[in-house]
Order: sequence, then C-alpha cells, then structure tokens
Amino acid sequence: MLKPSRRGQVAPFIVMDVMSAAAAQEAAGDDVLHLEVGQPSTAAPRAVLEAAKTALDQDRLGYTLAYGFPSLRERIAQHYKDWYGVEVPVDRICVTTGSSGAFQLTFLAAFDSGDRVALAAPGYPAYRNILSALGIEVVDLPTEAKDRFQPTVERLEAAGDLDGVIVASPSNPTGTMLDETAMAKLTGWCKANGVRFISDEIYHGINFGIRSVSALESDPDAMIINSFSKYFSMTGWRIGWMIAPPDLLRSVECLAANFFISPPTLSQFAAEAAFDCHEELQANVIRYAANREVLLNDLPGAGLSDLAPADGAFYIYADVARFTNDSVSFCQRMLKEIGVASTPGPDFDPTRGHHTLRFSFAGATEDMAEACKRLKGWLA
Ligand SMILES: Cc1ncc(COP(=O)(O)O)c(C=O)c1O
Repeated sequence: MLKPSRRGQVAPFIVMDVMSAAAAQEAAGDDVLHLEVGQPSTAAPRAVLEAAKTALDQDRLGYTLAYGFPSLRERIAQHYKDWYGVEVPVDRICVTTGSSGAFQLTFLAAFDSGDRVALAAPGYPAYRNILSALGIEVVDLPTEAKDRFQPTVERLEAAGDLDGVIVASPSNPTGTMLDETAMAKLTGWCKANGVRFISDEIYHGINFGIRSVSALESDPDAMIINSFSKYFSMTGWRIGWMIAPPDLLRSVECLAANFFISPPTLSQFAAEAAFDCHEELQANVIRYAANREVLLNDLPGAGLSDLAPADGAFYIYADVARFTNDSVSFCQRMLKEIGVASTPGPDFDPTRGHHTLRFSFAGATEDMAEACKRLKGWLA
C-alpha cells in the first residue's frame, strides 16, 4: 500500500476554505461582502503594468540569476535607504517567489529538523504549517492585548531553548505593531541568546499613524522577509524578497537555485517600477484608513467592541466570546445568513481562536459600512 508522508499532513489554510465557500455562495446569486480576503482589491500600479507590457514585447523572459536581477536588488537596497535610513549590501538581497518562497528558503537555510522556532499566537498560519512540514518544532508564544499581541522578552525567556523567532509587525491577523523600543528589545535578546531573528515585514507601508520599524535598524543580521503583495498591490505576481545575513547567503543561493531556479522574470521587470509608484499606492493606504475608521466606529454598535488596535495592515481581530465559543461555525453562519465573509480565529491561534475572528478591510469602503449594518441586524 502506498503511503502519504506524515510531514505533508499540515493543517489547512482555513481562509482559503472560506474563500471557496464565499465564491460558491456568490455564484449561486448571493450578494457576498468579502471581509475574508487578505489582499488588496486594486490592480498593480499603472507603471508596473506598463513595465510588464514592455517586457512582454521586448524580452524573451528566460531564467534569471537565482538571486534575481541585479538592478531590482539595487532598487530594493535603495528602498531601505529611503524608508529606514539603513544601508543594505546588495549581495544580501534575494528576490523570491513572494514572501511565501522566502519562508521556505529562510527556514531551510536557518534551521534543521528538530530545531525550535517561536512565533506569536495569534499569527499567520503558514509559518506554523511550513515549519511543521519541515519537521521544525513550533513554539507558541501566547500574546496578550496589553502587549499589542506581540511577543515579549518575558515570553521568549519562558519558552525554553530556542533556535529562532518569527515576528510580524504589522501583524496578521491583529494589525498590531512593534515600536522601535519593543523591536530593539526583541532583536537584542535574540542576539544575546544566539537565536535567529526573522522579521516578516510584508505589511510595511500600510500603517495608520505609527511608523513601520525594520528589524534591520536594530540588528543588521536579522533575516528580513518582504513582498510586493500588500503595499505594492501585486499579490498574483508572486514576487517578494528576503535579506539574509552573511553566514546564510551561499546556502540561500543554492536552495533558491534548486527549488525555484529563479523568481518569475516578468514580475521582476514589473516590480522594479513599483518603487516609483508611491503616489498611487498611498491612495490605497488612504482608502484602507477610511475603511478602518468605518469598522472601528461601527463594529462596536453591532456588539463587537473587543477589537485589536489595528495599527497597520488591513485587518481587525475581534473577540466574539460574547456570541460564540465556536468561531468556525459562527463565521459559516455569518456567511450563509447575511453574506458577510470573515476568517475564523483557529487559522491564526489553534488554542484560543475558537472565540475570535478576523475582518479584512482591504475592500471597498461601502462594503465595510454595509457589513456593519448587516452585522448589527444579525447580532441584535
Ligand atoms: C503575514 C504574512 N506574511 C506572508 C504572506 C504571504 O504573502 P506572499 O503573497 O508574499 O507570499 C501573507 C499573506 O497573506 C501574510 O499575511
């Protein structure tokens, strides 16, 4: 009898299941409001589309170097000067197949199976699922509202021997952020204790009043993962980047060449133009800010008042313990009965997510207002 591998049996990515249920309901004629999808509702910026068209016309689109086009890597290095005042040697930048591709490279280059890697709960589900598939032990750091749902040094100290820590600021699903002091405390502790620090900075640029702090500002050897998917509005182009410390560069290069040969060539041409599109991209951030205001103002009126601060990204994490102890079926009923799609908490926090859910506010502002109206009637 043929057997499937044990390591391939990771938990499902629940939001993808919600997305297909919402699509099926929509296909059946229902008016569904999509507060489940964690992606911009806009296309890539105009100049990005133009760059892609030119590349299609003029280039044969072959493989590139495993690390990506030197010119794109230079442009990414310039971005670190512009946004954070940090000098990043170009040879440390690796263009990847989205940040999802960067996770595989990072985890494989930095950890062996059996190593222990800590991450915040609630947190992005793929960290846990990819680490598990690679035989790396996931150590949950249960976070609290008083710490903005971010890991703390105390939590790290209580976690036993660690090989790595993954942090995301702004976080998915809470949107909460680490300020300079909080970030420096975490990177400092990791440096002092020989623990690799991995910073997922994919939501940088989408923040509401607080500055996005890069882990590179306090630790030049932190592993940085970023992407063109969110702020740059390029999810389907599958392009991102990572910044690796010197001791892992060759390993990342060999892994990248073997796993992917090279990141998508058309997307590399396109992404280079994205850094000149801030005006257009800021208009998206202004819309997210308006959507956030609508939800933060109207959800409490619908009975949902226990909300994470949503400093950045496009998510609001809500505690729905008042209404349910089973957020998966609560979200299913919400979708079925009022056509509001949201993501249940167990995707992000297997232990405590049964009484939480995540709303995404990446969509249209009218949809946010309409969702709150429907929720108010439903939960009354
Ligand atoms: C925190 C976080 N990291 C990474 C990703 C994956 O993004 P990419 O499209 O770059 O693979 C997501 C997607 O939702 C995310 O929320």
